[in-house]
Parts: sequence; structure tokens; C-alpha cells
Amino acid sequence: MSARKIIIDTDPGQDDAVAILLALASPEDIDVLGITAVAGNVPLALTEKNARIVCELAGKPETKVFSGCDRPLAHDLVTAEHVHGKTGLDGPVLPDPTMPLQEQHAVDFIIDTLRAHDPKTVTLCPLGPLTNIATALQRAPDIADRIQEIILMGGAYFEVGNITPAAEFNIYVDPEAADIVFKCGAPIVVMPLDVTHKALVTKPRNDAFRAIGSKVGTAVAEMTDFFERFDKEKYGSNGAPLHDPCVTAYLIKPELFSGRHINVEIETHSDLTRGMTVADWWHVTDRPANALFIGDVDADGFFALLAERLATL
Ligand code: BDR
Ligand code: CA
Repeated sequence: MSARKIIIDTDPGQDDAVAILLALASPEDIDVLGITAVAGNVPLALTEKNARIVCELAGKPETKVFSGCDRPLAHDLVTAEHVHGKTGLDGPVLPDPTMPLQEQHAVDFIIDTLRAHDPKTVTLCPLGPLTNIATALQRAPDIADRIQEIILMGGAYFEVGNITPAAEFNIYVDPEAADIVFKCGAPIVVMPLDVTHKALVTKPRNDAFRAIGSKVGTAVAEMTDFFERFDKEKYGSNGAPLHDPCVTAYLIKPELFSGRHINVEIETHSDLTRGMTVADWWHVTDRPANALFIGDVDADGFFALLAERLATL
């Protein structure tokens, strides 16, 4: 089988960084057409810079990185420096990037790429707020039918919320964008907190990254060390969840994951539950399924895949 063509839409973020590294380490499975940055964990100026830092860390400075939307569709930007640090990529000391940022706007790149390729041959992999993807869908509604699949990290059902009691960060930051995406009609796979909270970077898993003994292995160990401090304290778990790499791991080994085809709607009106993913996990409505909502992962298999692939960079 030929490599799956993807666009990674991202707001790095240490876990975004690991997701990107996994994709760039897997050229036989994944063809990264471009990386589009969006404001999220930190403001856009930092996310686009961090995306380039990660490409250079991977030894792939030829990767195309585009800058996208700097704020959500209808709300002020909410960021997460409390989790990811001031730069968004706190932990390792990494050099400023020298590779260029592409001149084209991320939204135009998404639209043009979907139109230039055969229908259903390009997959979108959003790892942050859905502002770039929704803006592309609003500007060019014809692209919805051309998307092979949208595999995104966001939302929660059983785990409910991590930024408010009711909402997961990526969806909370831009619920109007999420609403557009979940209604667009393209096949959607969701990696919610329900699954990412099972992908915990325990001490032995962090040691395995460090034991790779390369620049990438050490950087990944230091990144995951950094956000562990916050997450361990918050969740009282023995490791921090590695959210976004679930998306790129799914592209390589979907058999590690399981879920249900269900209806997912986004709460955009309520102040109390804004950004909640109202997921019909128990099929208690007759609303049609619009997403494969993942609930479980073979966590050992997931971390083995990560260690094996990251060692190739
Ligand atoms: C999501 O929010 C961000 O902080 C992470 O990068 C991840 O995409 C988890 O809620
Ligand atoms: Ca992210």
C-alpha cells in the first residue's frame, strides 16, 4: 500500500511535536504534504515556529510549514501555557528554526491541496483547535466531499473535560469551528480524552524514549518530562497522557484502537458547557452517526510503535 497523504493541522505543544515526529519517522506509511499551524496551546507566532523547530529536529527541513488562523472564529483565544510552558515546547533546549515558513496561508494550502489531488486521497489530521479546517470548509464547501478522512484529537465523553468541567481544550477553544467540522459530512475519527487518558507516559515509557540515545529520543523524553509535572499533579496518575500522537499512530496501526460509530454534536450556546462534545455513545437518540469515536487503545503497543519509529530519526 502506498503512503497515506496527510496534512497535519497543529498547535505545538509537546504532544503535537511527538505526533509530528512519529509521522515524519514513518515515510512508508505517511506522506506529510504539509503542516499547517493554528493558534491554540500558544499564540500562532509560536505554534508556526514550533512546527518548524520540530521538522528540523526530525532532520526534515524540507517539510512545508504554513501559518494559519491566529484566533478562533467567534471567541478570544484561550491558550494553555499552564500545561505546555511559555514557548509551548518547554522542556528541551532546541535551536531556533532556519527553515522557511511557506508564504501561502494555511487555509489556502488546505483548499488547494484537496482540490489538486484526486477526491478521497488526502486525510486531514487536526491536533489543535479546528479554526483552520473550519475556515477552509466555509470558504470552499466543495472540499468536504474530497476529504478522505478527518482524524482529530479532541473532545471527551466519559472523561468529560480538561479545560472546563465539561469541555476538552481543542474543542473548547473554537467550538464554532468544531461544529462546522462535525457537520461537514466527511468521515471523521475522533481521539477524545477517553482514549488519550489511557496513553500515559509512565516512567518506564519515558525511560524508553531516553534510551533511544539520539537527539530526538532525548528531546521527546525531556518534552514528556515537562508536561508530566502538570498532568501528574492534576490527574494523580502515574504518567501524563500523550494525546496527539494517537492520531498519527492510528494512521500507521489502526488495529491498536477501538471505538464506536456514533453521533457527536458540539455545544456552542451554553456558557456552562461550551465546547462539550455531546457524544451519543449509548445510542440513545436516532441522530445519525457522524464519527468513529475511539474509546480504547493498546497502550503498550502504542508506546512500542512510538519508540520503534522515533529511533529511526
Ligand atoms: C489537547 O490540548 C492540547 O493542550 C494538546 O496539545 C492536545 O491537542 C488535549 O486536550
Ligand atoms: Ca495539540
